[in-house]
Amino acid sequence: MKRVLMTSALAAVIAVAGVSAVIAAPAPTTGLAPERAGNFQLTDTTRLAHELFYFKHAPAIVLMSQTNGGKLSREGARALAKVQDTYKDKGVLFYMINSTPGQSREATAAEAKAQKFTMPVLMDELQLVGEDLGIQREGEVFVIEPKTGFKVAYHGPVTQAAKAIDAVLAGKQVANPRIDVKGGAAIAFAERGKVAEHANISYSKEVAPIIQAKCVSCHQEGGIAPFKFDSYEVVKSFAPMILESVMSDRMPPYFADPHIGTFQNDHALTADQTKTLIHWVRAGAPRGAGSDLLKETAGVAPEWPTALGKPDVIVTLPSFDVPSSGTVEYQNMRIDNPFQEDTWLKAIAVKPGARSVLHHVTSNHSPDRGTKPARIPGGSVGSYTPGAEPQVIAAGAGAPVPAGGKLSFSMHYTTTGKSATDQTQIGYYTLKQAPEFIKRSTVISDFALKIPKGEARHTEIAYLEFPADAYLYTLYPHAHYRGWSVELKQIAPDGKETMLLSLPKYDFNWQRDYDPVEPIHIKAGTKLVAKWIYDNSEHNKANPDSTINVTWGEQSWEEMMYFRVNYRWADETVSNVRNDLQAKLMDSRTIGALDNNADNKVQIDELTGTMASVRTRFADLDTNKDGGLDKKELEAGNVSRASATRDLRDADIDL
Ligand code: HEC
Repeated sequence: MKRVLMTSALAAVIAVAGVSAVIAAPAPTTGLAPERAGNFQLTDTTRLAHELFYFKHAPAIVLMSQTNGGKLSREGARALAKVQDTYKDKGVLFYMINSTPGQSREATAAEAKAQKFTMPVLMDELQLVGEDLGIQREGEVFVIEPKTGFKVAYHGPVTQAAKAIDAVLAGKQVANPRIDVKGGAAIAFAERGKVAEHANISYSKEVAPIIQAKCVSCHQEGGIAPFKFDSYEVVKSFAPMILESVMSDRMPPYFADPHIGTFQNDHALTADQTKTLIHWVRAGAPRGAGSDLLKETAGVAPEWPTALGKPDVIVTLPSFDVPSSGTVEYQNMRIDNPFQEDTWLKAIAVKPGARSVLHHVTSNHSPDRGTKPARIPGGSVGSYTPGAEPQVIAAGAGAPVPAGGKLSFSMHYTTTGKSATDQTQIGYYTLKQAPEFIKRSTVISDFALKIPKGEARHTEIAYLEFPADAYLYTLYPHAHYRGWSVELKQIAPDGKETMLLSLPKYDFNWQRDYDPVEPIHIKAGTKLVAKWIYDNSEHNKANPDSTINVTWGEQSWEEMMYFRVNYRWADETVSNVRNDLQAKLMDSRTIGALDNNADNKVQIDELTGTMASVRTRFADLDTNKDGGLDKKELEAGNVSRASATRDLRDADIDL
């Protein structure tokens, strides 16, 4: 056995503990690293997601294990920063990874700030990545080579990292690919080495119930997933894909950061479920004894959502033939309102006819011509985007549909290379009595967005200021294929900021309402600030064109910066209707769209995209000559969304 010298720090610990007998030498750090790194997605301390396999194009990815307060981590971070500097033009990526139990994201963010870390720190909270890479101590460096299938080309101390990177860049073998890291703090991995126990995880009692609870609703006969999990044999055959899709956070499709807010219909696996599933797959997905729940309970997806049952009224929209290629203009379908009396909706479920081609549905109620506007105006009567769930209005409230008039639906179809016929149905669930509160909705959007070509992480910010107290029911972010991540926060009148929703990785295919478990109370004067990050680089697999500067537009190769919120006004009831508040809310729409730095003024460089033409008038508009346009100056100059070169349709507002 190799002799390992006892570090003085360790000797001191032992002396204090009064241990004098023979002690086990620290385990060597080499030997546990795999030949190749498996895919994973982790969120950094700033809540951005990083997926290993996204970086196929990088010549090398360097990762160092880190522990807050660790001497070797801090020294290593400084040494690695120098290495990072040497390779800054070569596209080599540098990260740290914190797998230390009990070290929170906040604590790690504070450490990163205090120590001036120059690279993102990935939070490996479940330790599943650290287990796979074979991390044992702080200060271990991994050099991963994407082009050889993410081979772990080097595992060892920081001191030899530059040599290893050089070898990888030169396409050579690293001379010493595995070198023990000495000293520094050990990182405890409670599940490490429990292979025998993991092989005993019961498929029957532990795994099948997880699959049934979190996967089968889509992965069943008639469900929206392309295959069904209806027996051990199927699950076993998909085991490697399950591993990858769970580790990279694609499945189950639920993307809200678990540390921010609590939402209804949260499909995410819990931490324990994730660990059980991954450890079971890594142990070879053994069948073990016991019955097969998936076989016993296999069924067919219900036509309408189980929780809601059959709708009170079903509307069938006209059918539409979608060609195999080309651009299809928005299709407007108008039907007679099936409700002959003022009606309150408690839920709406949209059932697409042809999911593959239906990109979105927006809708609204319009009164018959010549009739006077309803006391409580109608709004959206159903919307759909890929991955949408039924819209359920919070208890105590309803969505108004005034009697008569028309329901109009704006249908957006995309072509896929295969023609298809869509006939979408909308299921309405009505309240038998008028509710107390009115569900309202509004949209935070930035119609001045401009996403430069090729830019991988481009930020756009927009806000709305609430003129009165309100309770937030639903948060719904929407962008097209370049949307990368999104957040919504509130800035209270006293300046206090609270994050309400964060999707570290947005997925166009999975857009849904996030309904807080308890409606969120916001005070008059609160700004709701949406922040979108876009990926207009060629590395975004979904990007339709990375060579163009992108501005606002309806088609999917254009972009949207869009965040709908549903809420009720605190002071509004069905007998005390406050349409005035709704109008007042719109006062901040223009400034909120343009004012990226949220300083209540629009500087000239904030006039971008469809609003760039206003720049020529800037000097005239800035009547008080303070270098920024405030709300009054914008109003006086008639600067508004409507003055944008490309106008929006009203239908978009309720998307
Ligand atoms: C809300 C519906 C839904 C749920 C819940 C869901 N899936 Fe899926 N799954 C899909 C769809 C749809 C696809 C097809 C690919 C796509 O669209 O992303 C898919 C694809 C997959 C794939 C193929 C590889 C991939 O990543 O595309 C695997 C593996 C998978 N799902 C595993 C799971 C597991 C495991 C769970 C539960 C822990 C789960 N899914 C829960 C809808 C779902």
